[in-house]
Amino acid sequence: MTRGSKKRLSHEDELREALRSKGQFWTPEWVARFMAAYVLQDNPDRLLDPALGEGVFFRVSRDYAARRGFNLALFGCDIDPSVRGLAQRAGVAAADLQNFEVRDFVLNPPSRTFPAILANPPYIRHHRLPPAYKAALREFAREAMGIAPDGRAGLHVYFLIRTLQSLSPGGRLAYIVSADICEGVFADALWRWITSRFRLDAVVAFSTAAAPFPEVDTNALVLCIRNAEPRSEFDWVLCHRRDPLPLELFLSGKVFDKSESFEVRTRHLAEALQTGLSRSPSTADHGRYLLGDFARVMRGIATGDNDFFFLTSARAHELGIPDSLLVNAVGRTRDIQGDRFTANDLADLEKQGRPTRLFSINGYSLDQLPPPVITYLKSGEARGVPLKTLIRTRKPWYRMETRKVPPILFAYLGRRNARFIRNEANAVPLTCLLCVYPRADSPDFVERLWKVLSHPRTIANLRLVGKTYGGDAIKVEPRALERLPLPEDLVLAEGLEKKAAPRQASLNITAA
Ligand SMILES: C[S@@+](CC[C@H](N)C(=O)[O-])C[C@H]1O[C@@H](n2cnc3c(N)ncnc32)[C@H](O)[C@@H]1O
Repeated sequence: MTRGSKKRLSHEDELREALRSKGQFWTPEWVARFMAAYVLQDNPDRLLDPALGEGVFFRVSRDYAARRGFNLALFGCDIDPSVRGLAQRAGVAAADLQNFEVRDFVLNPPSRTFPAILANPPYIRHHRLPPAYKAALREFAREAMGIAPDGRAGLHVYFLIRTLQSLSPGGRLAYIVSADICEGVFADALWRWITSRFRLDAVVAFSTAAAPFPEVDTNALVLCIRNAEPRSEFDWVLCHRRDPLPLELFLSGKVFDKSESFEVRTRHLAEALQTGLSRSPSTADHGRYLLGDFARVMRGIATGDNDFFFLTSARAHELGIPDSLLVNAVGRTRDIQGDRFTANDLADLEKQGRPTRLFSINGYSLDQLPPPVITYLKSGEARGVPLKTLIRTRKPWYRMETRKVPPILFAYLGRRNARFIRNEANAVPLTCLLCVYPRADSPDFVERLWKVLSHPRTIANLRLVGKTYGGDAIKVEPRALERLPLPEDLVLAEGLEKKAAPRQASLNITAA
């Protein structure tokens, strides 16, 4: 771009910007080593890293091939041209960068296939993908899988599909990725596709002490997949120590003494995908009832800019925004003490200067709005609010999501304080909380359901459906919360069973 030119950012520029602001996370060498041992065990003649970064996979693969004495050609690509220099500075030989290309691996992949692939894909969540780029990714996935994945799939999901397509028959892939690859809303369709075409040999999960990316709030998995006849069982490995050697031996099929560094269980695909690949095999009695039999779950409202849309009453008053354009809302889990949230609590928050009023204009055109509201919207435009990621997808930009007031809220971060809250404050939640809508409105039913949900045995089941992040944190997505098992005796004791809705068909993995 020339100085002073008004050229718009290209999709590549936008993507690079998203990458920069998200950071590029390099695989630790001890993990790269056992990943390489898995894909290189048959002495293949070439290896691909489709997202090279600093080139740790090139370095450990070169080292592995040298130790085993076989010839290995290294192929790589990355969307970011600066990684060539980064890789060289990190110790990749110039000769090994001869087959490195700057390209977008998903939309413009190399034309040949590879018997060995190592990948740590870019982790870019769907809302950070430039819209035209996301549309092209979805089209690619629709062609590959026969159906487009849910729009909430991030770049790492599309990357996995392309990576699998790039595997030669019999070829092996080791892919390090966030556990949400098997937990997000897109996961059912993705894993149905994978497990009906490829063999999942092993999944490596990590206990907190061995987390590969301890500084990041995510839970990593290594997927070891072969382009071979699918099987319905695989090895689930839980790694306890940052010690690559025993895992190198195990994943490359060598005999090894029992190791304290990791444990292995043989698991059935259907069970593991239901429980979540990052979690230990479930021995819990899932019982007959799930939360989804009695309630629907939705996330709270995403404003796109809380500073602009979420106001204290005093501020709304000062701006001259009429009450008819404001709804009661709660914006932080810690604004709710205990497990009942009442109108008095809302008033107390107001006294403490916390915002409780959501600016919610829907169904009015600009010329129908009072002048002070127009002035406030103009001030937002001057501050660039309409250009924010989520807001720019809305028409008009100030249109707010709406939710019926949910009778029950769910606070979903933190295993110790995850709780269901009886909402008596007539308030809608922002994204910090989930909305639970019981399938029947009667106050008696809602109270009984809430009692079952709040029971410590129900709360204990959250670990079966939540995404766990190192330490004590747990996060539960709306669809996952609908799969929360409710202890059958509690359901029967409250007489809820008569209100259970008929079940939808669930995931049925049919690998041989
Ligand atoms: C998480 S880093 C991993 C780097 C390295 N392989 C490692 O394991 O340390 C992901 C890399 O993917 C690159 N990348 C992002 N989008 C890409 C795309 N569409 N095609 C190819 N590479 C991409 C980024 O520039 C970044 O270097």
